[in-house]
Amino acid sequence: MKTRHALVIGASSGIGRSIAQRLKREGFFVSGISRRMPPPDTVDAAQCCDVLDAERMADALPQLAHAHGVPGVVVYTAGYPVMGCTLSIPEKEARQAFETHFWGLDRVVKAMLPIMKSHGGGTILAVLSIASVCPPPFEAYYAASKAAASAYLRSLSREMRRENVRLKWIAPGYVDTGFLERGNWFGMPIPQVRGSGVTPEQIAAAVVRMIHGGPEFKILGWKERLLAMGERLSPSLSKLWFSLKR
Ligand SMILES: NC(=O)c1ccc[n+]([C@@H]2O[C@H](COP(=O)([O-])OP(=O)(O)OC[C@H]3O[C@@H](n4cnc5c(N)ncnc54)[C@H](OP(=O)(O)O)[C@@H]3O)[C@@H](O)[C@H]2O)c1
Repeated sequence: MKTRHALVIGASSGIGRSIAQRLKREGFFVSGISRRMPPPDTVDAAQCCDVLDAERMADALPQLAHAHGVPGVVVYTAGYPVMGCTLSIPEKEARQAFETHFWGLDRVVKAMLPIMKSHGGGTILAVLSIASVCPPPFEAYYAASKAAASAYLRSLSREMRRENVRLKWIAPGYVDTGFLERGNWFGMPIPQVRGSGVTPEQIAAAVVRMIHGGPEFKILGWKERLLAMGERLSPSLSKLWFSLKR
């Protein structure tokens, strides 16, 4: 039997917080994992934990499943904004992007997928980025780590096609959460970033629709969909777009 327990990794702010609040409104019992405690109106239960800390994660994930039932929904939104001139980005920073976007996700999948499979199944959904589809300049490691997560989920989803666990991901463009402004921009000033117009609440609504069915993968925002289409037709088209933009 699928439980009404939803686990959100990265529920303490921004998109993850909106997703947790929306899932709560949908009647889920929501638990959260993040380094900071999520605000009280966001989740029903939480563990403060860094996704990079393998030992703590190995304790926290089964603890939440034991206390509140095996989740039928897991949403992974933890993100690390490392940006700027690629040659100026220290290796440690670049690795942290991969640790957060790729290895953290893998850690959660490995801990949750087997128990979800044996408890009625469910959905694991990751919030990736349009950068995973169409990598912008000055986001080489961010885009590469998100693209790695996308390839991982696509492959795993094909591997799991006969199983009862669905792997899904969404790719938003810039969202006004302060994520990019808080980022480390190496070798350049923080650029003026304009949001795509898509709000965290719209992303949360899309996530809920995808949990109940719908596509495996969704790009959010009309400009982002055009960009992805251009990239598919010819990467030179998106290169032209970026050269006009910056
Ligand atoms: N905002 C955008 O323009 C945009 C666009 C496309 C995709 N995204 C993606 O959307 C996701 C959410 O971003 P956001 O805009 O909502 O930014 P945000 O407000 O900074 O949210 C990031 C969340 O991830 C958690 N987190 C980060 N590192 C973590 C770690 N090591 N361990 C545990 N939790 C961690 C943070 O919690 P703690 O700090 O408490 O740990 C926070 O809850 C990210 O994956 C980002 O790449 C954002």
